[in-house]
Amino acid sequence: MFNSELYIPRAAIIENIRELTYDTRLYRVRFKCNSKCNESSESDYKPGQFVQVSVLGAGEVPISICSSPTQKGYFELSVRNTGLVTGAIHALKKGDEIGIRGPYGNCFPIEQAVGRNLIFVGGGIGLAPLRSAIKFVLHKRSDYGSVQILYGSRSKEDIVFVDDLEQWGTSKQSIVYTTIDRPQPDWTGHTGVVTTLFDKIRRLTDSKVFICGPSIMIHFAIKELLDTGWAPDDIITTLERHMKCGVGKCGHCYLGGKYVCTDGPVFTYSQINALGVEV
Ligand SMILES: Cc1cc2nc3c(=O)[nH]c(=O)nc-3n(C[C@H](O)[C@H](O)[C@H](O)COP(=O)(O)OP(=O)(O)OC[C@H]3O[C@@H](n4cnc5c(N)ncnc54)[C@H](O)[C@@H]3O)c2cc1C
Ligand code: FES
Repeated sequence: MFNSELYIPRAAIIENIRELTYDTRLYRVRFKCNSKCNESSESDYKPGQFVQVSVLGAGEVPISICSSPTQKGYFELSVRNTGLVTGAIHALKKGDEIGIRGPYGNCFPIEQAVGRNLIFVGGGIGLAPLRSAIKFVLHKRSDYGSVQILYGSRSKEDIVFVDDLEQWGTSKQSIVYTTIDRPQPDWTGHTGVVTTLFDKIRRLTDSKVFICGPSIMIHFAIKELLDTGWAPDDIITTLERHMKCGVGKCGHCYLGGKYVCTDGPVFTYSQINALGVEV
């Protein structure tokens, strides 16, 4: 089980590490168990939530959980090495210990979208929290309508979760379109930013679109969707803000009267409009 104590990290062991790209790794993490530990109840998080990951002597960073809660016993985090703490995480080896606080934040409203057609739009490492939602939906496949996944990456070397994208695309459970920003040798797929895939979307009524990626991508994706008549309530995205406490106490993530760490990070476009912020 995750820890209900707001400020006390719980010890967890890195069970496995997999290279996703030259700067991003996938960590399979399991809590250190005591006699009270009940493995079957370990996955008490929801797709879209994040944890605060700490490394002794380095600090703490917010990282999205990228596995599905339907996966019991362990959870997964994908970490891009961008600085001090993420660099310290990358320096760890299989069997090493990290601290975990959380899960924090709200979640993608996936359970409220039962019966709807779903479109996931991911950019770069933004596929991480969406992966949790996609895996959850595919696990409960008959509860949902069509599932379309659009993923954009700067280059082919930057594509994360190559195996998952391939599996989702060939499984007939979902349709996957991947693009890279510019043409590259040996790349025969689509090129152009992720919004250039939008004309491939099979536009169905009763659809919800979930977007996660760099702010510039979110900006243009939402603009395009609004221009083509999508309702603000059916556009769901994440806002990334610098976070410290993760629990609505320090004010680092305060935005338009909300705390992104507790009221978000997931918002509908209607809610973002109401905050009076530009995305
Ligand atoms: C809710 C949430 C979920 C996230 N999920 C993931 C994930 O799944 N995988 C992943 O690799 N990264 C994720 N991030 C981003 C990750 O938290 C930052 O990359 C990390 O905090 C950088 O810390 P650092 O000490 O390694 O880098 P630093 O040396 O502190 O800085 C390196 C760069 O990271 C930026 N940065 C620093 N602190 C933060 C912060 N608290 N939030 C955002 N950016 C920051 C800085 O502006 C700078 O550009 C998430 C961030 C948030 C807010
Ligand atoms: S991170 Fe402290 S209030 Fe949100």
